[in-house]
Amino acid sequence: MSQADNWLPRHIGIIMDGNGRWAAQQGKPRSFGHRAGVNALREIIKHCGDLGIEYVTVYAFSTENFKRSSDEVGTLMSLLVEFLKNDLETIIQNGVRINVIGDIDAFPAPVAAQIRRAMQKSRECGRMMLNIALAYGARAELVRAVKSIALDAAEGRLGQDDINEQLISQRLYTEGQPDPDLIIRTSGELRLSNFLLYQAAYAELYFTPVFWPDFTPAELDLALESYKKRSRRFGGV
Ligand code: IPE
Ligand code: IPE
Ligand code: MG
Repeated sequence: MSQADNWLPRHIGIIMDGNGRWAAQQGKPRSFGHRAGVNALREIIKHCGDLGIEYVTVYAFSTENFKRSSDEVGTLMSLLVEFLKNDLETIIQNGVRINVIGDIDAFPAPVAAQIRRAMQKSRECGRMMLNIALAYGARAELVRAVKSIALDAAEGRLGQDDINEQLISQRLYTEGQPDPDLIIRTSGELRLSNFLLYQAAYAELYFTPVFWPDFTPAELDLALESYKKRSRRFGGV
C-alpha cells in the first residue's frame, strides 16, 4: 500500500488487548506478554508512518486497569518509561509526535515527568500524531470536558447556546484531531472498554482474535483491507 491510497483512514484507534493470554498460552507470566506487546507496538507505529496514516491512538492503560495487582501496574509503568526513553529518538526521527491522552497525574511523578518530556521533545514532529491513551477512560474524559464547560459557563464566558457538538469535541483530549475512522481491537473481545466513546460515533470497527503481541504489520493490512470494503454512510443513503 502506498501513500497515494486516499481511501486510507486518517485516524486509526487500536485497543491493544490480549498480552496476558498470549503469555499464558506459553506458560509465561503476564509481564512477558506486556514486554512482547511493546515490540508489536513499535512495529505498528512504524508501519502506520510508512503508510501515511496521520493519527494513531493506542489504548495502553485504562482508568480501570488500576484495579490490577500493584505488581502488574508497576511492570506496565516500567515498560512505558523504558519505551519512552529508548524509542523517543527513533520516534522523533520518524516524524512522530507523541501525545499522551488521559490523567497523567494519576501516575507516579517520575513516570509523569517522562511522559511530559516525550511530549515536549516530539512536539515539532508533523508526519504522524501518536496519541497514547494512558490512565484514560472515555467517561472520565467526558466528565473533564463537562467540568471545563461548566466553569466557563459559570464565569460568563459561555452561554447555553454556545454548547454544541463541536464545543464538546474541542474539550476532549483529541481536540483538533479528526475522529477515528477505524477502531481495531485484538484478542477476540467484542467491546470498546471505555475507549473514545464520543469520538467513535461513526468509526468502523474491526475485531480480530489475534492477541496483541502477534498483531504484525500484515495483520494491520488485513484490517485495512476490511476497512476499504466498508460503505460509510454517516446516516445518509
Ligand atoms: C492488554 O492486554 C494490555 C493492557 C490492558 C494493559 P491484557 O493485559 O488485558 O491481556 P489479557 O486481556 O488479560 O489477555
Ligand atoms: C482494554 O483492555 C484496555 C487496554 C487495552 C489498555 P482490558 O483488558 O482492560 O479490557 P476488558 O477488561 O477486557 O474490558
Ligand atoms: Mg485484556
